[in-house]
Amino acid sequence: RKRVGILISGRGSNMVSLAQAAQAPDFPAEIALVLSNVPGAGGLERAREFGIATATVDHRAFNKDREAFERAMDEVLRVNQIEFVVLAGFMRIMTSWFVRRWEGRMINIHPSLLPLFKGTHTHRQALEAGMTEHGCSVHFVVPELDAGPVIAQAKVPVLPGDDEESLATRVLAQEHTLYPRALAEVASGRVALVDGVIARR
Ligand code: GAR
Repeated sequence: RKRVGILISGRGSNMVSLAQAAQAPDFPAEIALVLSNVPGAGGLERAREFGIATATVDHRAFNKDREAFERAMDEVLRVNQIEFVVLAGFMRIMTSWFVRRWEGRMINIHPSLLPLFKGTHTHRQALEAGMTEHGCSVHFVVPELDAGPVIAQAKVPVLPGDDEESLATRVLAQEHTLYPRALAEVASGRVALVDGVIARR
């Protein structure tokens, strides 16, 4: 079983769905660490309830030196013998130094049907664009923001009367089943990043 570190910044509902999936004996990954850049993030307490080790590296302690912040995170990952990094509501943009270091071994979930609606406020963006369909994507992380090869997506309808909150809730329910499936695929080696593109076997 691959030793996975999950990076969070907030409530950690995706982290919980991954931790639940990883309780199955045949799941190919073990959640060995939950690391937050936000002290007291709600997800940290929920991780402890699963008996998962937690750590905090507060980005504000590094005076805007992003690489120093990432070196500190990298050290925590190394000490915990993490082999694979999963971003789950981690709201810091990473330098190419950190991304290259974990290339092919780091995935993210993004609340839109990439390549549509990169960045933040994706549900608002989808509503303003008049979409009738929206969703979420799991992708390998590359230096360019939200631009990595997509491993899996799930779609939801945009319904009349939807606001950001109702749409976010519908998408989040899909995230919670999509992310464990995608992690199982990469942790088992069925899906890999080879020469910058997705390879399946
Ligand atoms: C999720 O919707 C996730 O897709 C999104 O933040 C939320 C985190 O919720 N991630 C991003 O926007 C990444 N740029 P959670 O903490 O309950 O998992």
